[in-house]
Amino acid sequence: MTEFEPTIVAFFCNWCTYTASDLAGTSRLSYPPNIKIIRMMCTGMVDPKYVIKALLEGADAVLISGCHPGDCHYINGNYKARRRVKLLKEMLKRFGLEEERLRLTWIGASDGLQLAETINTMVDQVKKLGPSEIKSTMVI
Ligand code: FES
Repeated sequence: MTEFEPTIVAFFCNWCTYTASDLAGTSRLSYPPNIKIIRMMCTGMVDPKYVIKALLEGADAVLISGCHPGDCHYINGNYKARRRVKLLKEMLKRFGLEEERLRLTWIGASDGLQLAETINTMVDQVKKLGPSEIKSTMVI
């Protein structure tokens, strides 16, 4: 039997975490191919609908990552993201999903190593959780 390989959709802020993913690549740091990266200009632009749509259409988990608090290029986008993620986690719990399936992190442009470690850790955690039940119950 083959091991479960989760699909994780990642929304990365262009200015910090997406740049860190470039740095991880050029530094030859490896992370699993389970992650599907979507570049956003800011975590504040991650509409909750995008997270829900990703989970409904096959993602086992969602990772949102951007600039550290105080470093957002749009001043307070990451604070908005933090509030939205808190509410989304509550909603996911009510749907019966583990809140670990949604994660928000701050990874700066020079933190390629932290990015690789974060992805590796999240993939391991989601493997332990198993496939998301919501995608198997949805007919779209
Ligand atoms: S610009 Fe990076 S989180 Fe807002």
